[in-house]
Amino acid sequence: MREVVVIGAGMTKFGELWNKSIRDIFVEAALKAIEDAGVDYIDSMYIGSMSPGLFTEQEHIGALMADYLGITPVPATRVESACASGGAAFRQAFLEVASGASNIVLAGGVEKMTDAEDVTAALATAADQEYEVYQGITFPGLYALIARAHMHQYGTTRKQLAEVAVKNHRNGAKNPNAQFGFEVTLENVVNSTMVADPLRLLDCSPVTDGAAAVIVASAEVAKNIKKDFVRVIASAQASDTIALHSRESFTKLGSVVKAAEKAYRMAGIKPKDVNLVEVHDCFTIAEIVVSEDLGFFEKGKGGEAVEQGLTSIEGGKIPINTSGGLKSKGHPVGATGIAQIIEVYEQLLGKSGARQVKNARIGMTQNMGGSGASCVIHILEVK
Ligand code: COA
Repeated sequence: MREVVVIGAGMTKFGELWNKSIRDIFVEAALKAIEDAGVDYIDSMYIGSMSPGLFTEQEHIGALMADYLGITPVPATRVESACASGGAAFRQAFLEVASGASNIVLAGGVEKMTDAEDVTAALATAADQEYEVYQGITFPGLYALIARAHMHQYGTTRKQLAEVAVKNHRNGAKNPNAQFGFEVTLENVVNSTMVADPLRLLDCSPVTDGAAAVIVASAEVAKNIKKDFVRVIASAQASDTIALHSRESFTKLGSVVKAAEKAYRMAGIKPKDVNLVEVHDCFTIAEIVVSEDLGFFEKGKGGEAVEQGLTSIEGGKIPINTSGGLKSKGHPVGATGIAQIIEVYEQLLGKSGARQVKNARIGMTQNMGGSGASCVIHILEVK
């Protein structure tokens, strides 16, 4: 396999972008990434998008975006893996460059969710329709079951869930692209509107419009284009049962454990070598469970870790979600995996301003679909 690097990045602000269409926001992010990379061509393009058909009644967005970007006949493919669509698109770009089939590939993600009539129902199509959704459960409901099981099994507390939201909003307040870039207190979280017991409004990622794009290139080609780039030292993906009830445990995400094992092996590193990680905190409990399943904390200790400040930028053992995470930055589902890559890319290049992690050299992204049926992990390194 050839060495693969990231040489440019661009994203829109996340939020309710009511005056822009899905094509406008994708093209905005893609042009920013192309300009940042300083390339004058791309060989192909992958676009993560969970459900443009249900959210905006527009399918076939690979060709649509190539057309509006003015780059036809470049091959352009939509990649779908629910909320892990962005991570999966990045992985396709990585594999295409690593294989030698292409030298420069754009990996993007886009979702325009706020126009949809019933976002909750559209999102729920990523769960098991027959065994879960037809019985009335939604994603907040599924993650509430995970939260209850974790609280019961490990003594995770309501306050510890809230600490995740407080930390992520603190980080997001320093991110100009964040949808909800303001701080919240523990009291705000525990008194916010109940969504699915024990998860409240401020435990949930929001409904978001947004797009993000990065330029992936072979290291050989990149050397002639840019001085500062970041190496992709691992790309791994795994799946699990789509229905929560089919799993051995509600409190362990098997796809995360498997993908992490593969990623650490490919990169030749251990969890202690990672300087920062962007995880898929679609709900506060997800960050706690994932921080354990990635091997940063012993099983059951993720809640204590956030409470003790071990995941904060300010002196934490492993800063988690420096961007503000899905909670504060927003979660335009198909774009999320790419936005995670952008945060790590910028952190490793020392471009993260007020939320910079000092001496960051290795960063990880963990993007998942549904209640963890798909998981994509990448590890990036700067020399
Ligand atoms: N965090 C912080 N504030 C939020 C928020 C969130 N997640 N979601 C909405 N808000 C704010 C809104 O800005 C609004 O504020 P305002 O009254 O000052 O204008 C207020 O809360 C109510 O917003 P509204 O859009 O009416 O909320 P809602 O009840 O329709 O939706 C959720 C709230 C939590 C149900 C919705 O955001 C949701 O479904 N989130 C989960 C998305 C999801 O499942 N993603 C996939 C994960 S696998």
